[in-house]
Amino acid sequence: MTRLLSSVVAAVAVSALGVATWRGLSSPSEIASGNRVARSAASSDQGVREVAFADSSTEPTLVGREVCRECHAENHSLHSNHGHAATFHLVSQTDLVSKFAGKSFDSGEPYGTYEYHSDGQGGLFAMLPARFGNEPYPLQYVLGSGQHAQTMLTLAPGVDGQTEGIEHRVSLYPDGRIDLTPGHSKMTPQSALEYFGDASRGTPLQRCIYCHTTSAKIVGESIEDLIPSVNCEKCHGPGSEHVRLARAAPKPPPYSVGRDTWDTESEMQLCGDCHRMPRSVTEKEIRTYPDLLVRFQPIGLLRSRCYLESNRELKCTTCHNPHQTLREMDATDHVQDCLSCHQAGTPTHVACPVEPETGCVECHMPAIDLDQGLQFHDHWIRVREE
Ligand code: HEC
Ligand code: HEC
Ligand code: HEC
Ligand code: HEC
Ligand code: HEC
Ligand code: HEC
Ligand code: HEC
Repeated sequence: MTRLLSSVVAAVAVSALGVATWRGLSSPSEIASGNRVARSAASSDQGVREVAFADSSTEPTLVGREVCRECHAENHSLHSNHGHAATFHLVSQTDLVSKFAGKSFDSGEPYGTYEYHSDGQGGLFAMLPARFGNEPYPLQYVLGSGQHAQTMLTLAPGVDGQTEGIEHRVSLYPDGRIDLTPGHSKMTPQSALEYFGDASRGTPLQRCIYCHTTSAKIVGESIEDLIPSVNCEKCHGPGSEHVRLARAAPKPPPYSVGRDTWDTESEMQLCGDCHRMPRSVTEKEIRTYPDLLVRFQPIGLLRSRCYLESNRELKCTTCHNPHQTLREMDATDHVQDCLSCHQAGTPTHVACPVEPETGCVECHMPAIDLDQGLQFHDHWIRVREE
């Protein structure tokens, strides 16, 4: 099926009254072959190494996180359990296939009821029988490790043939519930594809994949050179030279966060690149600081007096080991982080007049409820009004 034809079909589908098609893909094998390209690029660490060492110049290249284990076993094992290490998968590699297959979900008007089924070979499909008959819509990628929500993404040609990424309207939640994706309750479909979820293209689509992977290139309807999830080298940069030099001498030259130029600001930029910086939101949002902004921790932190008045001492890693998941931490451990500055009896910082030794987080950075029961901690550390 050519691009042109599928565009025409999809364009027709928007206005058609009867059973139409969302893109004109007729045979499941066509869909499966689209999936196969991505699968082979990501199937094994072997594949990753091939990508990495294909370039023989001295520009550092990606070597993959398994190589780091040799000398940094502890960080490697910590990172393995972090959400960063599991935030992007092919649907076929996850249990979402078994969680969804055979189920249906009424996603409200005008969308209708999705029916999910598997092809028995790892493929998962959604159908909207009332609108598109039995034409299967493939669910390709899963974003989110499952700590908050897991949302599926499909790459498909839009009406003009340009690749669109469709964030599926339905997500899987940690309690096993299948429900609307956060933020989707107020949407309306703008195209045939959007009956399956929210479409983005161009830079926003590239950013969506960028923030959840270490390396990825969108080519048509699949992703090439895929190294899924946020791995060591996404934060530290390509490691081939560091590994070569470390193997040659016990004390390799500074690398990444070891460089003199690495400071609080560098770290804010690194974490803020994905967790969002003030530049990612509108001026009005910054002024009014709606609850929605608690998802974006750097934005809150950057306006707290702890950051503003501590001579650039406060950064994300004051309270977070960037390799260790919060699930393995006791929330009360963070009290020690606060007390590292707010010790009673020290002249440099004030202590709490209300509760100087415990419970800091509940009162000064409480968890705020967002859509679908998701909670985020308000990183604008402050004395709160209420
Ligand atoms: C390339 C994008 C990216 C960068 C850079 C990044 N993060 Fe994340 N971070 C994510 C994504 C995506 C998730 C969601 C993971 C999931 O699906 O659970 C996440 C989740 C987290 C979590 C919660 C998950 C857990 O298991 O505890 C913490 C804490 C976190 N990041 C801290 C940081 C800090 C600190 C930095 C900077 C040192 C940082 N992140 C840099 C993308 C990024
Ligand atoms: C600018 C970087 C960025 C972009 C763009 C981005 N994400 Fe994320 N995403 C994150 C970070 C960071 C988190 C972790 C949030 C946290 O735990 O505080 C996250 C979390 C998630 C989660 C876990 C559930 C949740 O709500 O926390 C899902 C699912 C997800 N993103 C899907 C997507 C999809 C789908 C797209 C594109 C359509 C997308 N993201 C675009 C950075 C990004
Ligand atoms: C989300 C970004 C991020 C990821 C992913 C990440 N790191 Fe780090 N790493 C950092 C930051 C930031 C520091 C500096 C911490 C500090 O200043 O306290 C650091 C410090 C280090 C250090 C020096 C201090 C120490 O902890 O020994 C090593 C070694 C290291 N990382 C290795 C790794 C390896 C290996 C992986 C993958 C298994 C990895 N990192 C993944 C952000 C990251
Ligand atoms: C052959 C051993 C070896 C391998 C493999 C290796 N490192 Fe290192 N790494 C070292 C040594 C040695 C140091 C210096 C430790 C020190 O000085 O305390 C170091 C330091 C670091 C630091 C701290 C910054 C600095 O300049 O001290 C980071 C970050 C880091 N490595 C990341 C990585 C990542 C990411 C990988 C995988 C791509 C990796 N390393 C693979 C041996 C290795
Ligand atoms: C790196 C040092 C540092 C750390 C760590 C730190 N703070 Fe602060 N914080 C400050 C400074 C500096 C101020 C300004 C007042 C002062 O000098 O003590 C401040 C101010 C405050 C205020 C008053 C804010 C207002 O709006 O008036 C509160 C509340 C507070 N911090 C709570 C906390 C809590 C809770 C934690 C731990 C989650 C924490 N801080 C961690 C340095 C820090
Ligand atoms: C003063 C301490 C402190 C600093 C600094 C800090 N955090 Fe946190 N962060 C916390 C606490 C406390 C939690 C809640 C921990 C828990 O639930 O176990 C948290 C939770 C998170 C989460 C999980 C989602 C959420 O909001 O509950 C992410 C992601 C995160 N922080 C990212 C960051 C990033 C990125 C930075 C730097 C811009 C940062 N944090 C700086 C204390 C801090
Ligand atoms: C029960 C809620 C509660 C807990 C728990 C709590 N605080 Fe407070 N904190 C407050 C309130 C309310 C104020 C404002 C008091 C006032 O203005 O009289 C305050 C004020 C502060 C201030 C500003 C003091 C000043 O003179 O400007 C700091 C700093 C602070 N708290 C830090 C902490 C730290 C650190 C912890 C944990 C060890 C903590 N708080 C635990 C409620 C709490």
